[in-house]
Amino acid sequence: MTAQLNPRGDVAVLVPAAGAGVRLGPGAPKALRLLAGEPLLVHAVRRIAAAPSVHTIVVAAPATEVEAVRAMLAPVAPVTVVPGGAERQESVAAALAAVPTGPEIVLVHDAARALTPPHLVESVAAAVRDGHDAVIPVLPVVDTIKEVDATERVLGTVDRSALRAVQTPQGFRRSVLIAAHRSAGDALTDDAGLVEKQGIPVTCVPGSELALKITRPFDLALAEHLLTTGA
Ligand code: CTP
Ligand code: MG
Repeated sequence: MTAQLNPRGDVAVLVPAAGAGVRLGPGAPKALRLLAGEPLLVHAVRRIAAAPSVHTIVVAAPATEVEAVRAMLAPVAPVTVVPGGAERQESVAAALAAVPTGPEIVLVHDAARALTPPHLVESVAAAVRDGHDAVIPVLPVVDTIKEVDATERVLGTVDRSALRAVQTPQGFRRSVLIAAHRSAGDALTDDAGLVEKQGIPVTCVPGSELALKITRPFDLALAEHLLTTGA
């Protein structure tokens, strides 16, 4: 059944989905790869559309797959699909340009985090609504982290208690994200990184184990398992 988005909602969600998925191994672009018989992007969009504050969803698809992605998502939820770019940041910028007037909260959410629960979309949006310009979901780092040199010699042990692993959706006041993208100079950073460079404070909220990024074959197998146990 096609989900209805909330016409009174104040949140637009940008979904960069134009990556190749090189680390997942040979095959279709990652967002189109199947997880329990459905493309990752379908899982992701279905969960975003289930978040009650969401007014608009804009997907940045692989440039050659725009029509296929439109057809694929039509039964899932009303979405706008635009061609993505060669770098994730270009894909986000293309999606951002397609957000209609209205939503003042913009979330950026990787299609690869296909099992992200709707409540995480809501909690990030709520923190922006509460007055935070930029909000990221994070988890504590569980492994011991070492800094090494080019020869793999250990230089030191990093204090783990001060580290966080960052997920998406990352949430922003719309004008803040637009300004950060306008001045984007570093293709390697995430959206919150662009905002940090503007000197704007970024706030953390608790992330979710289910928001794992499907990157390697192991992650896909884990996601399949999580789905069979009710994710
Ligand atoms: N992405 C995008 N446009 C790009 C590159 C990435 O929209 N040019 C999206 C991916 O589709 C994904 C998200 O950004 O949903 C996070 O990127 P990542 O997990 O690195 O996905 P891929 O780039 O597809 O994977 P890989 O780096 O292994 O090729
Ligand atoms: Mg990538």
